[in-house]
Amino acid sequence: MSWRAHRKAATVISLSITLCALFYWQSNNIHFQTSSCGCGSCPKENEDEGSWFSKRFNASFHPLMSRNSSVLNEKASKWWKGLQPFQGQPDYRVVVEKLFKLIPDKEYYRDGSPDRCRVCSVVGNSGNLKNSHYGPLIDASDFVLRINKGPTKGFEQDVGSKTTHRIIYPESAVDVDNSTHLVLVAFKPLDMEWLINVFTTHRVKHTYTRVKSTLQANTSLIMVINPSFMQYVHEAWLKKNGHQPSTGFLTVVLALHICDQVKVFGFGANKQGAWDHYFERIPPSFKTGGHKGSFEYDMIKELDKRDQIEMYRGW
Ligand SMILES: *[C@@H]1O[C@H](CO)[C@@H](O)[C@H](O)[C@H]1NC(C)=O
Ligand SMILES: *[C@@H]1O[C@H](CO)[C@@H](O)[C@H](O)[C@H]1NC(C)=O
Ligand SMILES: *[C@@H]1O[C@H](CO)[C@@H](O)[C@H](O)[C@H]1NC(C)=O
Ligand SMILES: *[C@@H]1O[C@H](CO)[C@@H](O)[C@H](O)[C@H]1NC(C)=O
Repeated sequence: MSWRAHRKAATVISLSITLCALFYWQSNNIHFQTSSCGCGSCPKENEDEGSWFSKRFNASFHPLMSRNSSVLNEKASKWWKGLQPFQGQPDYRVVVEKLFKLIPDKEYYRDGSPDRCRVCSVVGNSGNLKNSHYGPLIDASDFVLRINKGPTKGFEQDVGSKTTHRIIYPESAVDVDNSTHLVLVAFKPLDMEWLINVFTTHRVKHTYTRVKSTLQANTSLIMVINPSFMQYVHEAWLKKNGHQPSTGFLTVVLALHICDQVKVFGFGANKQGAWDHYFERIPPSFKTGGHKGSFEYDMIKELDKRDQIEMYRGW
């Protein structure tokens, strides 16, 4: 090669290196400037102020109750107390104080940052999970949130085996293993009283129906949904449709608040249009899962359309 050719080659190479470096620096810089989370994509940051999502999602509501955040403002207090007949209910402040003697007083999951990529699977109980083979996909998430009784044993191939959080209310409670967070949705102060009682005196055996008077769960992992958060979901998300949000819908919004990416399984009808559970037969007249007609389900579909969640329908 001639001296001139050498020099030309050297110039081309150094120019390429410079361009690559510049491009790398720039793309990193762009990444650094706009990423609110550490995942490949952070759906929440794609929303402009005033968008459908931004009008509903409000990060100032923290889903999980701490002693500090347990103080309800007048609106939340009135709403929550109106959900169920209030006579004979224990005093809210007293019961909350007792509760935090049993469970940790923590501000959970306020750790969102450009370094955090928390992927969550919310697993509903719809019959559309049958033969879906979603098990491994569900288990690959950091958090797997399950709802009410939805079992894993015997259904691992379709629903997975991992459960990091199980969202329940007293009438739907089941035992969980010692590494699962039991998450209580309390519709009344008696529900919090019940939670304390299942680990202490076992005295609460009845709410509006029979409830378990003992429960297996690791008390240091128990969490309680803040009634203020429930009121926010009812007002901002459901526009006050229905009496109260369902456990399933609360869990989807909970996941939007504490996770960076959300996958949703087991919501809605099966392929035949029937609403049933993957683990039990339910009479065709008893529509569940959808709750509140289809308003909640429409919200979930809209979240999917906007890529705020990834919905897996099983068909
Ligand atoms: C979020 O909620 C807080 C507390 O209720 C309120 O002050 C604030 O205006 C809300 N933000 C948006 C964007 O709606
Ligand atoms: C509760 O709030 C007080 C006053 O704002 C603060 O000093 C304290 O650290 C908070 N407690 C927790 C556990 O965050
Ligand atoms: C409860 O969970 C904590 C925190 O993960 C763990 O250290 C502890 O061993 C668990 N307790 C039992 C009885 O398994
Ligand atoms: C937690 O549960 C597992 C599985 O049941 C058991 O092997 C382990 O000993 C338990 N840990 C504690 C600290 O109780």
